[in-house]
Amino acid sequence: MTKDNPNSPDLKSGKGSKDYSKYFDFSDAKVLSEDEFGKRIRIKGREINIMSEPNHRQEKQRGKEDVQVLYGNVVPDELRSIGEGKHYIIYTFGCQMNEHDTETIKGLLEQMGYRGTEDRKVADIILLNTCAIRENAEDRVFGELGHLMHLKTEKPDLLLGVCGCMAQEENVVNRILQKHGFVDIIFGTHNIHRLPFLVKEALFSKELVVDVWSKEGDIIENLPKKREGMKAWVNIMYGCDKFCTYCIVPFTRGKERSRRPEDVIAEVRDLARQGFKEVTLLGQNVNAYGKDFTDITYSFGDLMDDMRLIDIPRVRFTTSHPRDFDDQLISVLAKGGNLVEHVHLPVQSGSTEVLKKMSRKYSRDRYLELAHKIKVAIPNVGLTTDIIVGFPGETDEQFEDTMTLVNEIGYDSAFTFIYSPREGTPAAIMEDNVPMEVKKERLQRLNKAIEDNSRMNNEKMQGKIVEVLVEGESKNNEAVLAGRTRSNRLVHFVGSKDLIGTLVNVEISEVKTWYIKGEIVTESIAVNS
Ligand code: 5AD
Ligand code: SF4
Repeated sequence: MTKDNPNSPDLKSGKGSKDYSKYFDFSDAKVLSEDEFGKRIRIKGREINIMSEPNHRQEKQRGKEDVQVLYGNVVPDELRSIGEGKHYIIYTFGCQMNEHDTETIKGLLEQMGYRGTEDRKVADIILLNTCAIRENAEDRVFGELGHLMHLKTEKPDLLLGVCGCMAQEENVVNRILQKHGFVDIIFGTHNIHRLPFLVKEALFSKELVVDVWSKEGDIIENLPKKREGMKAWVNIMYGCDKFCTYCIVPFTRGKERSRRPEDVIAEVRDLARQGFKEVTLLGQNVNAYGKDFTDITYSFGDLMDDMRLIDIPRVRFTTSHPRDFDDQLISVLAKGGNLVEHVHLPVQSGSTEVLKKMSRKYSRDRYLELAHKIKVAIPNVGLTTDIIVGFPGETDEQFEDTMTLVNEIGYDSAFTFIYSPREGTPAAIMEDNVPMEVKKERLQRLNKAIEDNSRMNNEKMQGKIVEVLVEGESKNNEAVLAGRTRSNRLVHFVGSKDLIGTLVNVEISEVKTWYIKGEIVTESIAVNS
C-alpha cells in the first residue's frame, strides 16, 4: 500500500486538503487467514475477503505478455436464478466508457435473474460505478455512500457494491475498508465479468468481498449488455498507454488492448440488424486502435473504412488523441456516408510549454495544423474539445495561449475543467503556485469564449436544412422534440412523438447558444451539419 504524497499541491495549500494517511493505519486490522487465493482480515468487526487488491506500482507497469481474447459464457447455469424476484440499481459516474460498462453490469445481473428498479426501497443490490478522473467526482461517490449507509441500516440484506475507476485506487479501497465497512463488494474495471461470482460470494459469506485486479487481464467477448434507446456504444479498445502527467486513467484502465476487428464489426452489424440508428466507437485513445496487433496491420482508419460498409445511419467515435490522428483517418472520415462530421479532439491547453509539462507529445502549432487539415478535408465538421485550466504553474501568458487557440479554432463546444491533482500521477508532485481564485477566473473566461464561439457557429446554421436523429422529448417541454445533427448539435422542433427514433430533416429557424430551433420539413435535402 502506498503512502500519500506529502508534496501534493492540494495538501500544501491546506485548502480542500485530504489527509489520506489515516486510511493506511491498519493497526486495528486482524489477519484471519492468508493463502494463495487471498487473505481474510477483520476490521472493526467486519470480516473482509480480499481476493486481490489494487496496487499502484503494478498498475504503472506495461507488461509484454499477450492479451488473450476469450469467448464464452460468463454466467454459469447455477447462478442464473440467483437474482430471481430481486431488483438492482446502478448509479453511474463519469465518462461514456463507464456508462457502457454499466450496460454490461446490467446485462450480467439480468442474466442472473435480477431486474432494474428506480426505487431504492425495492432494490436488493445497489452498485456505484465510479469515476476517478477528478476529486469532485470522488467526493460525490463518498457522499452517496453516506446516504446508502442509512438505507443499509434499515435493510441489512441490501447488497452494496463499489466498482469502476475509484475501485482501482489503493487509497479509495483502504478508505472504504476503514470507514465504510458496510459496503459488501468492491471490484475494478478489469474483472466486471467476475460479478456473478462476487455477488454469490458476498450473499452467502456475508463478508465484504474485494476483487480488484491491478493487471488488465484478457479481453472477454460476448458479455451480455443491456442497451436502451436508438444509440449504442461499442468498445473498440481498452486502456491507455499515453500517461499524460495529470491523468489517472492509464492506472485505472490498464494498458492499451484492441478488440479484434471482426468482433467489433460483428457487434456493429448486429446492432444495425436490431434497428439501432447510431453507434459510438469507444476507447480512451481510439487513434491508437490496432497498434497492439502483432499478426495483422489494421488501423483505426481501416476500422472506420469498414464501418462505412455497414448499414447503420451514423457512426461516431470518442475520444481522440491528436498525436495519433493520422492522414489516413482524415481521408477515410472525409468519405462521409455514415461517418458523421464530428471530431472530438481534446487539446487540454493552447500553450506548448504546458502541453510539454502535460506530456501530451504535440505542440500548439501541430494541433492547429491538424485541426486545419480536418476542417479542410471535412466541410462543416463540428470540432469539440477538452481543456484543463490551472495546470500546476500555468502562467497568465500560457493561459492566454489557450484563449487564442480556442478563438482560432472556433469549437462548437468544450468540456472544461480546473486541474485536479490525482495521487500517484506525476503532476500531483509538481509545484503549483496558481491560486484557486485565479484558476476559477480563468475557467469563467474560457467558458465565456466557448459560449461565444458556439453561438457564432450556430448562427451560421440559420436557414439551413439539417438531418436530425430524433432522440426524445425536450427536457423542459414535452410538446417539443429534441435530436442531434450529424455534427452533434442539439436541435429542438415541434413534431409528433412517432418520429422518435427516426431521421428527419429540419429547417433551422432560431439560434440559441447551446441549441438551435427549427421546423420539420419534408422532401428536402439536408446539408451535412
Ligand atoms: N484534472 C482535471 N481534468 C482532468 N482530465 C483528466 N484528468 C484530469 C485532472 N487530473 C480531463 C481531461 C480529459 C477529460 C476526460 O478529463 O481534459 O480529456
Ligand atoms: Fe488520460 Fe491522456 Fe490517456 Fe486521455 S490520453 S486517458 S488524458 S492519459
